[in-house]
Amino acid sequence: MHEQRQPARTARPRHYLMCRPTYFAVDYCINPWMDPAKPVDTALAVLQWERLYDLYQELGHTVELIEPVPGLPDMVYSANGATVHDDRVLVANFRYAQRAAEAPAYRAWFEKAGHTEVKAAEHTNEGEGDYLVVGGRVLAGTGFRTDPAAHAEARELFGVPVISLTLVDPRFYHLDTALAVLDDDEIMYYPAAFSEDSRRTLRELFPDAILADEADAEVFGLNAVSDGLNVLLPQAATGLADKLAARGFRPVGVDLSELLKGGGSVKCCTLEIRHRATGGHR
Ligand code: ARG
Repeated sequence: MHEQRQPARTARPRHYLMCRPTYFAVDYCINPWMDPAKPVDTALAVLQWERLYDLYQELGHTVELIEPVPGLPDMVYSANGATVHDDRVLVANFRYAQRAAEAPAYRAWFEKAGHTEVKAAEHTNEGEGDYLVVGGRVLAGTGFRTDPAAHAEARELFGVPVISLTLVDPRFYHLDTALAVLDDDEIMYYPAAFSEDSRRTLRELFPDAILADEADAEVFGLNAVSDGLNVLLPQAATGLADKLAARGFRPVGVDLSELLKGGGSVKCCTLEIRHRATGGHR
């Protein structure tokens, strides 16, 4: 229908790890979205999560599951469990005691799945919550959760440039709540979530980035997952959906309202397992 000139987008099949929200609850408060006084409908959370799980598979992606652990209500946010690049796994080391036991659970999953390069992190880092792989580099958040010293640890393990970005708005406490990777060199982000210096860095590295406004950021529109063509994002982020469509992406709105009560959405529920390129065999 549209005769607009747009880059040709292609989806690349991905490998994800998710965790069913069987024991999801908001029993404690470690970010401004969590209010233990507000009721949470765990059964609805499961239904909403299952829709996302199904969508990925309908789009041709491989999704593996980690067994949820009773007493770890935030384990559904699998993005926080680790960061995987070129088959190297850097396991999370959580900031708050309430989530600390998730780290050994994720570590055990990767080891059992046959991953041979699995590192338990020395410094505090919350996995892909704060580490986003963009092509041959890693954007790394700090300010609320991940320790700046962890960025050097990631650089050493992955052997790629790690660009530190400082978050300044407590509503956007993880990098993946303020910035989403769309393709190897394309991102979208909410500038006001970053320090002045980090905004400058982002402008220099990604002059053509899609910029989100506050309304879209507040409904977690940036907590999105892209396969290069399809961009799954909270359905309330309609402004971002329009901007994505204008760039030739295919926005797919998802309703994860229950999981938003814990301070997470699409991306938080999705850990990407990135494999080493196999020299043109795929
Ligand atoms: N309640 C969780 C926490 O505060 C939410 C984590 C959201 N995950 C994310 N990747 N942003 O730790």
